[in-house]
Amino acid sequence: MTETAKRSVLFDPLTIGGMTIPSRIIKTATTETMSTEDGFVTDELVAFYELYAEAGTPLIITGNFYTQRSGRVYNRMPGADHDDKIPGMKRMADIAHRHGSKICAQLSHAGRQVFQPATLDDPVSASAVSDKFSGIKPREMRIDEIRSFVEGFARAAERCQRAGFDAIQIHASQGYLLSQFLTPYTNRRQDAYGGSAENRLRILLDILKAVRERVGEGFPILIKLNGDDALPLRKGLKTPDLVEIARVLEDHGLDAVEISVGHYESGFPTIRGNFNRFFDTLLNEGIGQEYPRGKQRSMRLSKGILAALSNRLWPHSEGFNLGYAEQFKRALKIPVICVGGFTGPDAMAEAINTGQCDAVSIARAMIADPYLVRHIRRQEIGPQCRFCNACLAHVGARAVDCSHPEVVTERAAMLERERKRCFGNAA
Ligand SMILES: Cc1cc2nc3c(=O)[nH]c(=O)nc-3n(C[C@H](O)[C@H](O)[C@H](O)COP(=O)(O)O)c2cc1C
Repeated sequence: MTETAKRSVLFDPLTIGGMTIPSRIIKTATTETMSTEDGFVTDELVAFYELYAEAGTPLIITGNFYTQRSGRVYNRMPGADHDDKIPGMKRMADIAHRHGSKICAQLSHAGRQVFQPATLDDPVSASAVSDKFSGIKPREMRIDEIRSFVEGFARAAERCQRAGFDAIQIHASQGYLLSQFLTPYTNRRQDAYGGSAENRLRILLDILKAVRERVGEGFPILIKLNGDDALPLRKGLKTPDLVEIARVLEDHGLDAVEISVGHYESGFPTIRGNFNRFFDTLLNEGIGQEYPRGKQRSMRLSKGILAALSNRLWPHSEGFNLGYAEQFKRALKIPVICVGGFTGPDAMAEAINTGQCDAVSIARAMIADPYLVRHIRRQEIGPQCRFCNACLAHVGARAVDCSHPEVVTERAAMLERERKRCFGNAA
């Protein structure tokens, strides 16, 4: 088979619940830092998604929306916590639809993975286990709080549907609150929500059921789940545990699963790459500026070592979660989406052609090149992500964007070319 024939799989349709998309290259969640301080959608946020929609991206998964204010991860994060947010959310859905894309809202709660003191009302988690990365010691959620969280989550999902979103994604990976409930290391509860695997899964099943009741049959519910907790020497979940969780969720009406990896406390397996610019950017331009002085000082002193160690432990590779994804694929009937390191069409097509996943999802390579899907369709090469992770280092402090100097130059030239193609030289 020729390379072109192999790549054609990328433009095969895929059905997720009641939704069919025309291609297998999905924009995954990247928190935007573009909302108002109280979580309303801005023009900037709508414009951000317009580029992906213009590119023909079949499905856009938004950055995480909080379902209740106590679940915010960062400043300037959007909320789906009140009906007054619906008109702004509708603008996001409308812009996607105007260009033929589908849009899925990711819903999350940070639990203990919160950063700036500004967002910390009273951090909660499954249990009072401090986060070694953020230094936060959360309080254990009470049963009545769990019930109102589940209800709040379902109401938020219904708001997304009313705003015109095509799907929602439950964020249960990367160490956020629902991941904290699943993982024995972070869940030490002795009640109905802790202990056995069945009990640790209970909150997620409650959410799935409550969301389904509100959105009805046919409305796609996706989940983002770890393929491995990457918590060595701690009681983290391994792939077979997580596959079993996905299997139970599938039996209860889940429509698709996206596979990621790690908790914040794992280091950087979630965003394998090159860390030479990361720590400086975090400290000088990112939320590191708001870290306690002592933490800033020790990070400044150790940033060279931290970068060298991170480069060694978590180097970039294409499709770095595929080893996990293929184990889910073997056990499930619903579509399996794999995130992690994808940048070129050959690796994406191979992942699908070899049956390791049904679709790929992309964060950083699409921040570098929002027209990635268009470029792949036209067999062109756009700006190439260098996986420097500066985009991540800016989260919570600046609107999400690529700041790698070479990529920024390549991208400006590319956007100019595209504009001329679209409007002619007169524009
Ligand atoms: C700037 C940035 C923001 C992110 N925000 C989110 C988010 O809101 N929700 C989420 O599930 N993952 C988030 N992630 C993780 C990505 O969705 C993805 O799992 C990870 O970057 C690996 O994919 P990639 O190699 O294609 O970048 C973010 C990553 C980046 C770089």
